[in-house]
Formats: sequence, C-alpha cells, structure tokens
Amino acid sequence: MRSLESSGARRKTLKNKKTPQTLRSARWFAPDDLRSFGHRSRAMQMGYGPEDWAGKPLIGIINTWSDINPCHAHFKHRVEDIKRGILQAGGMPIELPAISLAEQYVKPTTMLYRNMLAMDTEELIRCHPVDGVVLMGGCDKTTPGLLMGATSAGLPMIYFPAGPMLRGNWHGKVLGSGSDAWKYWDDRRAGLINDQQWLEIEGGIARSHGTCMTMGTASTMTAMAETLGMTLPGASSIPAPDAGHVRMAAATGRRIVEMVWEDLTPDQVLTHDAFENAIIVAMAMGCSTNAIIHLIAQARRAGCNITLDDFDRYSRIVPVLANVRPSGETYLMEDFFYAGGLPGLMSRLLDHLHLDAKTVTGRSLRENIAGAEVFHDDVIRPLDNPIYKEGALAVLRGNLAPDGCVIKPSACPEHLHQHTGPALVFDDYPSMKAVIDSDDLDVTPDHVLVLRNAGPLGGPGMPEWGMLPMPRKLLKQGVRDMLRLSDARMSGTSYGACVLHISPESYVGGPLALIRTGDMITVDVPNRTIKVEISDEELEARRAQWKAPEPRYERGYGWMFSKHIQQADEGCDFDFLRTDFGRPVGEPDIF
Ligand code: FES
Repeated sequence: MRSLESSGARRKTLKNKKTPQTLRSARWFAPDDLRSFGHRSRAMQMGYGPEDWAGKPLIGIINTWSDINPCHAHFKHRVEDIKRGILQAGGMPIELPAISLAEQYVKPTTMLYRNMLAMDTEELIRCHPVDGVVLMGGCDKTTPGLLMGATSAGLPMIYFPAGPMLRGNWHGKVLGSGSDAWKYWDDRRAGLINDQQWLEIEGGIARSHGTCMTMGTASTMTAMAETLGMTLPGASSIPAPDAGHVRMAAATGRRIVEMVWEDLTPDQVLTHDAFENAIIVAMAMGCSTNAIIHLIAQARRAGCNITLDDFDRYSRIVPVLANVRPSGETYLMEDFFYAGGLPGLMSRLLDHLHLDAKTVTGRSLRENIAGAEVFHDDVIRPLDNPIYKEGALAVLRGNLAPDGCVIKPSACPEHLHQHTGPALVFDDYPSMKAVIDSDDLDVTPDHVLVLRNAGPLGGPGMPEWGMLPMPRKLLKQGVRDMLRLSDARMSGTSYGACVLHISPESYVGGPLALIRTGDMITVDVPNRTIKVEISDEELEARRAQWKAPEPRYERGYGWMFSKHIQQADEGCDFDFLRTDFGRPVGEPDIF
C-alpha cells in the first residue's frame, strides 16, 4: 500500500485542517491489521487499488434515485457528473443509494417517511468509510430528510438539488405543477373541461425530469438549502435539463473534496443566523407552508431553537418578491432562473439577511451573492413593488389552535383573511370525499369546511389533504374559494383559504376534535387569531366526552412512528432524534 504521506503531499499547498493520516476513511484502510486487510482486499475485489483510496478523501454520494421518482429521473446521469468532479479534485466517489420518496407515488404520504430517510442518511454516513458526502435530492421531503440526517452525522456535506422541471404547456397556455392541476380539475368538475382536453393537460403538465416548477415544497426547500449555505451559489434555481445543471454537479463534486481537507463541517454553517436567513428568503419566495415544519426540524437537528413565532415575526416585515405561482399569477421557476434566480432574489434582501453567515464555499453569504443581479423586475419584484405586502405565511393562535396553525395569505383572496362562518365538520378524509360532490350537501360560501384526523398521528403522517376540495355544488355556482381548516398539511403548489397544521392535532384530543357542525368559527389573519365561538366550559364538557381513537399501528415502522412523532409546531421529528436526547452518537466501534 502506498504511503499515505506521499499520496497526500500535493495537498500540502492547501490550508489543510485534515491530513491524509487524519482522514476518517484512513481508519478503515490504513492500519496494518486483519480488519483493514479485509477492507482493502474487498475494495480490490471491486477492481480498486491503493491509488483509489490511499490518502484520498472518500466521498459518499447519497443518491435518492429510483425507477419511480420522475423528479430524480436524471440522477442516474448526474451522479456520474458528481463523480467526475470528485475525481478531478483528487477524491474517491462512493455512491450510496437511499430511500427515494417520490411525492406522487409514495402512500399514504411521503411525510410518513421523511424521518426514515433522515435515519437512513445518518446511518449510511456513520457506518461507511466516508470523509464527506454529497446529498442528491429535490422532491419535497428528500431535501429536509437528507439534510436532517447528514446534520446529525456531522461530516462535511454539500447538497445537490435536482432542479425544477421545464414549464408545462397546453394549447399555448403555461401549466404549473400542482397549481394548474387543481385549477383545471375544478373546471372539469364544474363541466368546463372535457375528457379529451383533460388527457391533453395530463400529457403537457410535466414535460421534463426535475422537481415541480411552481413555488411548491421542492422549490422552497431547495432554495432554503441554498440560503442555509448548504449548496454552491445558484444551484437551486437551475432547471434540471439545463447544461448548467450538469456543470453544477461536477462543481459540487469538486467542492466536497476541498471541504473535507478544510474540515468544513455542517455545524460551522448551520447556525441560528443561517436559519433566520432561510426564513427571510422563504417569506420573500412565497414559500410552501411545509417550509415551517421542515425548517423547524432541520434547525433542531443543528441545535438551533427556531419556532413558529420566528416565522411570523419575519412574515410581518419581509414581503413576497418572487412572482411565481401559486402566490404569483404568471411565472414559474424557469422564469425565476432567467430573472437571476435565488442569488438575484437575495440581492434584494441585503438589509434583512445575516450576510456574514458562512457557507459551504468557505466564504460568507455576502461574498457568495456579491454582484448578483435581477434581470426581470416583474419576476423578482423590488421591495417597493411586492407581490404581497407581507411574507408568504402567517401563524394563527387561539382556542382552536393553542400551539398554533398556519395559513398562506399570499395565495388566498383577501376577503377571506377575516371571516366568521358555521363549521361543516368531516371526521376523516373518506367521509368528506363521499359527500363533497353531493348536490344535497348543506353548504354555502360562508361555511367553514373542517377536516380532522389528518395530522401527524391521525393521517397518519399528516398527508397533504389540507386543500380540501371545494364542494361541487359551490363550484357550479362559480365559487372558487372558501375557508377550510384542518390538522393536515397541503402541497406547496396548492392555494386557497386553507388553515393548516392545527396543533395539537385532533387525533390526540386537540380542540379540533371537539368542534361540531354549526359551531361558529372566526379566522382573523391580520390579528393572527383563530377561534371557535364556544365557551371554555363547553369545550371542557366536550373534552370529558371525547374518546381517544384506536392506535393505527401495532407493529413495524408505523408503530415506531406513532410512538415517537412530534407535533407539527415541533417539526414532526422523532423525539429520540433530538440533539438533546441522550449522549451524542459516536463513531462506529469496529476497528
Ligand atoms: Fe416531486 Fe413535486 S412531485 S417535486
């Protein structure tokens, strides 16, 4: 085996914090003992030799590709580009597949498995001989899942976003993921779209690989990853099919090798300031409501106590600047990229951001976005001409949601920001679905639709049911929005007057479990309140009659999930994965 000293000599020109001898992977490959013999001989079984591992950073590439994940379909090729970059920089790539959470296909909801991906990621990193990792994700839960797990693992890591797909098209009209599916589905239910037209929309709404190209959860979370400093500058905005995306893959591979030598670990990047930056940018992006849950969970993995109140505080001072659907009317992520992308948007937020925050480039956010410009003022609006005067999300509290709930006022009509109406309560999703299209449904535009048992435990997994379907009876009358409440989440591509994440959820006996059809409910977004107009005494009397539902699982992952999942306001992480839960996990003791 070649001397580690000589192999790493060319690295001595760098300001190394790591040396070939102190590389983590050297614990597997360097010692002259029987265990290391096994590691080396089995590497040679795969056709590798000492030139591949000795004195070189071994870089894990956590790849969330699968045959049934259209958002990551290009990862089979991009992983080769990342490997090229790693090799160029003198590292050794090791691809490690992780669970692939395809939003459209994984049932009952990918949110049930976000924490499984986080655990998968953390343990893949911990148990393998890697010195740093590239995380390949993009489709909704994959970004937070990968980042949560890698944060807990603590090795140098860099995130590579899948990139948004190209704009959809139908009869010359631009189609946006999710948002236009909901819109045209309502048109079809109202009899305005025929079967042939529906088939054409089906074939035109997703024209390339890549993530949803509206400002959904995928675009929100990849932008958050970049704002946190976990990607190379500009990485999150590049459309997936763009040649620039290929070049970004190679650059990401090169950079992680340098990060290993610099020992640039996530704790140096994921600070409280970095998470506040992510909230600020989320507000200006017109972010998905899911950002709240995921960012709280990510922050807590990094030991930062971010709360719902932090989101609401910035929501009041940072306006929505990105004119991208569903908050905006016209544009999609492809337009956002051409207009300057995330660096362009951040260049408009200089007075709000913590610019000294360190990033994976080794430089500050200020240095990363120096010179960034906006090339289209209607896509990325100036501060004095925003899409919406406040940030994208608002946090409401009251006797119906003591631990808070969320609404996206930027994507719902202003006349519903303050509304009082009678509740029409559905105990679960199937019972709602069974009657929502009935012409006999006793519902008016003033009603407040309520869905319960759709939270973290009740769903289970808090499915994206929060954009309750509009009753067909009202659609036929031309009504397109009404106040809707639930303990569910909704897709970031959704829109409408939907109050979500009501905490505590109804399944554990939160007040949502106690309300009845006909109770008057008031939502007041400007004053951030939500309440059911019944007395505390009446609520307590109803609580005394409430019976906890049967457990949903008696074995397996679902059982573990049920035992340990936290509520929405706490980020829905497992309680035993908190940073303050017991002793930190050390290195594998196998040597
Ligand atoms: Fe994958 Fe929307 S379905 S990002």
